[in-house]
Amino acid sequence: MPGDNARKALIDSLNGLLADYFTLYLKTKNYHWHVAGRQFRDLHLLFDEQAAELFALTDIIAERVRKNGGETLTGIAAIAARSSIADDDRASVDAMEMVRNLRDDNARLVERIREAKAAAGEAGDNATEGMADDWTDQAQQRVWFLTQTLA
Ligand SMILES: [Fe+2]
Repeated sequence: MPGDNARKALIDSLNGLLADYFTLYLKTKNYHWHVAGRQFRDLHLLFDEQAAELFALTDIIAERVRKNGGETLTGIAAIAARSSIADDDRASVDAMEMVRNLRDDNARLVERIREAKAAAGEAGDNATEGMADDWTDQAQQRVWFLTQTLA
């Protein structure tokens, strides 16, 4: 039987992942709102699709924490304290720099999901372990779209 330590590590990993999703959601929205240039329409729409996908998973991940008996994030300060993804507080960013930043951040998210999946395996949380594959596929799809946009 997996012990308390494995469960605590999973809760910690999921809360960190949740903070990354919220941060990347808002960063993607920042770029959606402020993008400019020749590809404005395409990027404005792509960023909005990706932001919606990120936001949709926040509730799922928070509730995986609750179903594992843990407490999850409570507000903006808790998100900032745990996120491993850096904010971009600039409103004026070159459009291709936006694409590169989001590509790198989503690639980082793939790694964080991998860690959460491994922690779920250790804790015997089959549901999180199974869901993580879908989260990975979504994140890799975002990386792919952003990479192809740079080509
Ligand atoms: Fe919008």
